[in-house]
Amino acid sequence: MKESQQPQSRRMKPQLAIALGVSGLVMAAFLTVACAKDESAGNADSAAKPAPVQVALKDGPALEFRGTLSGDVLDLTPMEGETFTPEAKHFMATGENPYKGNPEEVKKGYTIFSTACSGCHGHLAEGKLGPALADDYWTYPKNETDKGIFETIYGGAAGMMGPQQGRMTVDEILHVIAWIRHQAEENLKNGGAAPHG
Ligand code: HEC
Repeated sequence: MKESQQPQSRRMKPQLAIALGVSGLVMAAFLTVACAKDESAGNADSAAKPAPVQVALKDGPALEFRGTLSGDVLDLTPMEGETFTPEAKHFMATGENPYKGNPEEVKKGYTIFSTACSGCHGHLAEGKLGPALADDYWTYPKNETDKGIFETIYGGAAGMMGPQQGRMTVDEILHVIAWIRHQAEENLKNGGAAPHG
């Protein structure tokens, strides 16, 4: 055993060294990415961290957001304990959702959707008590835009669709919207609209 193992392990050595070298590099690259990601996580625990460098986030006067049913201007004062993230500020100034298309943020959005929305809209937003949200039909056509759907979620719509104002932060709503858009794209790719509930 010993004799047959030794030459083998000697032969393995250069390969092992290369493997270690490569995995070291991979590790270093991974850590760099992980640190960068950590900085960009826009949640409460990192609220004090500086804005992510990879996206040029704008800050400025908030656009006018209006209730979907009332048409009244919505009050965007932060809720208790909420500090606007750079992403939330960017959205309020531009109407663009920086979380859209970012797999990690989309995943967070799904977690939030699962607790706050899926009970009425179905676990993949296929529709239940409330309508499907990941197909190509909207009761309120403005929901096609991120600003429009934000207004519906934040200010509420008819009946059981209560306002999320005071329940969810702007940042959380943006995460949910990012997931809804992602799910709609998935449904489209998989051959059309989700069935209505
Ligand atoms: C208690 C049940 C309930 C919950 C919880 C709920 N919704 Fe709704 N939602 C509804 C109902 C019912 C409607 C239809 C209201 C209408 O047509 O005005 C609706 C409508 C909507 C619409 C408009 C859809 C369209 O076709 O224009 C959106 C967008 C929406 N909900 C998103 C959400 C999101 C996101 C959440 C989670 C933060 C959520 N809802 C939580 C019941 C609910």
